[in-house]
Amino acid sequence: MTDGLFEIAVKAAKNAYCPYSGFHVGAALLTADGEIYTGCNVENASYSMTVCAERTAIFKAVSERKKNFSAIAVAGSADGDFSRNCTPCGACLQVMSEFCGGDFTIILADGKHKLSEFFPVSFNKENLK
Ligand code: THU
Repeated sequence: MTDGLFEIAVKAAKNAYCPYSGFHVGAALLTADGEIYTGCNVENASYSMTVCAERTAIFKAVSERKKNFSAIAVAGSADGDFSRNCTPCGACLQVMSEFCGGDFTIILADGKHKLSEFFPVSFNKENLK
């Protein structure tokens, strides 16, 4: 099911709006029912308003009532070479943890990882009690 997901993320990176960093990021999110939502980073002149590719993809899916995910592929590059890992930032890992367990698959240039590898502990609904 995840075959080709990284290549879809590379394609999504072409849509990145990144005039400030010049760093193109694409994400391809696979839902449990086999759909794919893509995302790219969307920067802003007010830099901190930037949204990463992963969160773009996740918010697109959730806004379409999809909340069960199997995997996400992430591809990033400043020069068109997507062979180096683009590890999701902490904010994106926190957003993933809202919807996905530790076994959630994160596909980077070097292959498959698990959410728990990058983000062993999250702030979650239990913390709000
Ligand atoms: N970025 C992402 O889209 N995803 C990541 O996982 C890391 C960083 C974006 C944010 C910003 O537009 C650019 O990459 C440089 O930080």
